[in-house]
Amino acid sequence: MIIDGSKIASDLRAKLQKNIIELRSKYNSVPGLSVILIGDNPASKIYVKNKEKFAKEVGIFSEVIRYPEKIDEKTVLEKIKELNNDKKISGILVQLPLPNHINKRRVIESILPEKDVDGFHPVNVGNLSSGYESSIPCTPLGCYLLLKTVEKDLSGKHAIIIGRSNLNGKPMTQLLLKENCTVTITHSKTKDLKKECNRADIIIAAVGKPNLVKKDWIKKGAIVIDVGINKTGSGIVGDVDFKEVSQVAKAITPVPGGVGPMTIACLLQNTLACFKRTNS
Ligand code: GUN
Repeated sequence: MIIDGSKIASDLRAKLQKNIIELRSKYNSVPGLSVILIGDNPASKIYVKNKEKFAKEVGIFSEVIRYPEKIDEKTVLEKIKELNNDKKISGILVQLPLPNHINKRRVIESILPEKDVDGFHPVNVGNLSSGYESSIPCTPLGCYLLLKTVEKDLSGKHAIIIGRSNLNGKPMTQLLLKENCTVTITHSKTKDLKKECNRADIIIAAVGKPNLVKKDWIKKGAIVIDVGINKTGSGIVGDVDFKEVSQVAKAITPVPGGVGPMTIACLLQNTLACFKRTNS
């Protein structure tokens, strides 16, 4: 089974759109999303363009604030302060990566936790790991929702996460623990990655290594979620060798058309959730 992330994301956006129409008549306002984009990173420019497009499509007020690569940190922090106090804006996202002269930690921590649609603020990270309500980072949230379309009850499943990033691996662990999975996080220093994968019911691959996960790494019937987006000579591929692994996995996400579209849909869901929390 191929998990159709494009279709599942499109259904989620349709649901959000309906919800926003209802909220507009109730509150006479809509959620607002501000995205700050610094510099000319080509991938970031594409992501931000898509975030803006889909936000508008579902009825979210959306603005992109663009700064040149050389912008000073103080200007960015002042802008965030202004957005924190702006009633029209429910969610603030600063697109990563940032130029080296800008302190990522200071920037993330300057966003009000209530408007942190990425779920990167330490308050949200802490709330998620304590099992409290929080913004949940969009990529692992997207992976989680895709998994749940295949298997409602994840209790007792053994999940292997490849990659320990703050963006995906660590928050993914928290989401799966909440579902009563047994979770193993693997990374570049893991001794025998193939052996770890061989015992997994669920594999989440997020390391940025083209076609790393092979057919003989997979236990029959495992669910495989591929977060990788790697540019190669033969086009965009994931971290999983899709052609091989799709022969043995119970379900697998394609790249493109798997996790990618869900990440944006989850950002829109987070923006709506921030709006609801401040308006209820
Ligand atoms: N760059 C790549 N992925 C992300 C993300 O999920 N959020 C932000 N802010 N930047 C990113």
